[in-house]
Amino acid sequence: MRSPIPDYLAEALLSVEADQSGQTADYIPELASADPDRLAVAMCTHDGRLYSQGDCDQAFSIQSISKPFVYALALADRGFDEVLEKVSVEPSGDAFNEISFEPGTGRPLNPMINAGAIAAHTLAGPRDATPTERTSRIIHGLSAFAGRQLTVDNGVYESEITTAYRNRALANMLRANEIIGGEPLEAVVGYTRQCSLLVTVEDLAMMAATLANRGVNPVTGAPVVPAPVVRQVLSVMATCGMYDGAGDWMTRVGIPAKSGVAGGLIGALPGQAGIATFSPRLDQHGNSVRGVDLFRRFTSDMGMHLM
Ligand code: DON
Repeated sequence: MRSPIPDYLAEALLSVEADQSGQTADYIPELASADPDRLAVAMCTHDGRLYSQGDCDQAFSIQSISKPFVYALALADRGFDEVLEKVSVEPSGDAFNEISFEPGTGRPLNPMINAGAIAAHTLAGPRDATPTERTSRIIHGLSAFAGRQLTVDNGVYESEITTAYRNRALANMLRANEIIGGEPLEAVVGYTRQCSLLVTVEDLAMMAATLANRGVNPVTGAPVVPAPVVRQVLSVMATCGMYDGAGDWMTRVGIPAKSGVAGGLIGALPGQAGIATFSPRLDQHGNSVRGVDLFRRFTSDMGMHLM
């Protein structure tokens, strides 16, 4: 029997298509010039069935959606104690690029805001890895989540790194607080490369499905990270993944999620599926407007809310 899911997804896209509210990210020039009308959705079940509709071949940069996956690699590579000593797990209630550090320890509040993500970036791979080896570990690790080799969009990377003054400031603060070692600029360079990895909405659905499937890619069968790591990552996505919009998201949509400024959005329903949307116009929190609408619709239609 033919699955009803593709028709449902196509209809869901139609229902949000007309909404032109929000703005593409303007602080990264290459993103500001993206086609704002692109719209796509993909869903991958925990056992690897993939459905997609809309502009599903359109590649875009992963941006902040890389953060939960790099946090997962850091936890897997260095262990919980070492990572928690450097990055806390408390919602900041602030914007994604806020200069916020925990009083006393100087730790970033969580690995989803830029400060915590730059710190988590430096914790992926072995302790003695060079910055290049670290970035390469991250590219391979994220590729294992996606089930195919991902590559960096150099145009997006160059466009962001030349104006990354705020992230450089955050990395310098992290160095001053003794949260990261080495040269702070190298951490920003690697982190910006990580954010510039090109993905499609299908890649993102597969990455989210790997989280939903306790860390095993449901198509390749590769064990990417251990199940306790996934539990930690999904918990932090649930509380911090949507930044200062996290409370509204958790009450209305109710699943662990992560957004990116290129317009991607993922949600992972443990034991069920990974879902991803792509639409570049963002709300005031930096989350995709039509993506958030689509997820709200999925929750009400399919009862996705975990509570
Ligand atoms: O560091 C930055 O500002 C970007 N590379 C990523 C920010 C981002 O995607 C925030 N999420 N919605």
